[in-house]
Amino acid sequence: MANPRQQKQVGLFSKSLHWLLALLMIGLLALGWVMVQLDYFNPYYDSAPALHYSLGILVFFLVFIKIIWQLAKPLPEHDDRLKKYELYASKIVHFILLLFMIMMPISGYLVITAGTNDASFFGLFDLPTLFKISKPVRDAATFFHTYFPFILVGFIVVHILAALKHKLIDKMQTARDMWPK
Ligand code: HEM
Ligand code: HEM
Repeated sequence: MANPRQQKQVGLFSKSLHWLLALLMIGLLALGWVMVQLDYFNPYYDSAPALHYSLGILVFFLVFIKIIWQLAKPLPEHDDRLKKYELYASKIVHFILLLFMIMMPISGYLVITAGTNDASFFGLFDLPTLFKISKPVRDAATFFHTYFPFILVGFIVVHILAALKHKLIDKMQTARDMWPK
């Protein structure tokens, strides 16, 4: 008979989305910090921001798909072997990470469309300016996009350390294990 725990593992599509988004988010943080340091004569002065905007917009689309997919096919229940505080901590951290995956593209979009709006999605289409935003909203978006990534990095570090602890120290394969088989 099949092991009941194995029947409720995270599906391949959800796992793939998790890893794709994780790589994109970590890559975009690095790219964001590198691109704002580039001077005008650097050969990547134009291409680095263009890649940042395109990948950021891709995150927005993928998060949308992720949310729809998770509503249609919810992840397995959390593991009953987790301690109560671990359960609540992981729920809070996952929620905050998800919020960042939504807010970073939105704030980036607002920063771009309030300015010169030279962003395109891999040259396929230009970002439309959907709203005329006031200066305080633009300033808030710029503040968020510039300073909140430091908080995001903190949550990502906690998240990775917790995942590694379950895997390597507790040697626990949780019901929501994201590791490739
Ligand atoms: C090396 C990096 C990473 C590792 C090893 C990792 C590992 C994991 C694991 C094992 C889980 C399942 C936890 C459980 O519920 O028991 C998980 C869930 C999750 N992770 Fe990561 N993760 C990484 C990076 C990231 C990044 C960068 C983000 C977002 C910025 C992220 C967002 C999430 C979210 C939102 C969940 C909840 C389930 C879901 O919605 O897919 N992870 N991760
Ligand atoms: C989706 C995840 C995203 C992440 C994690 C991210 C991260 C970052 C980071 C770390 C910086 C450097 C901030 C600084 O030190 O000034 C940055 C800058 C920037 N990003 Fe993003 N970004 C994302 C999406 C986007 C999108 C979708 C756009 C626009 C379409 C965008 C537009 C910008 C712009 C214009 C800057 C330079 C201005 C500023 O500092 O606020 N970003 N981003």
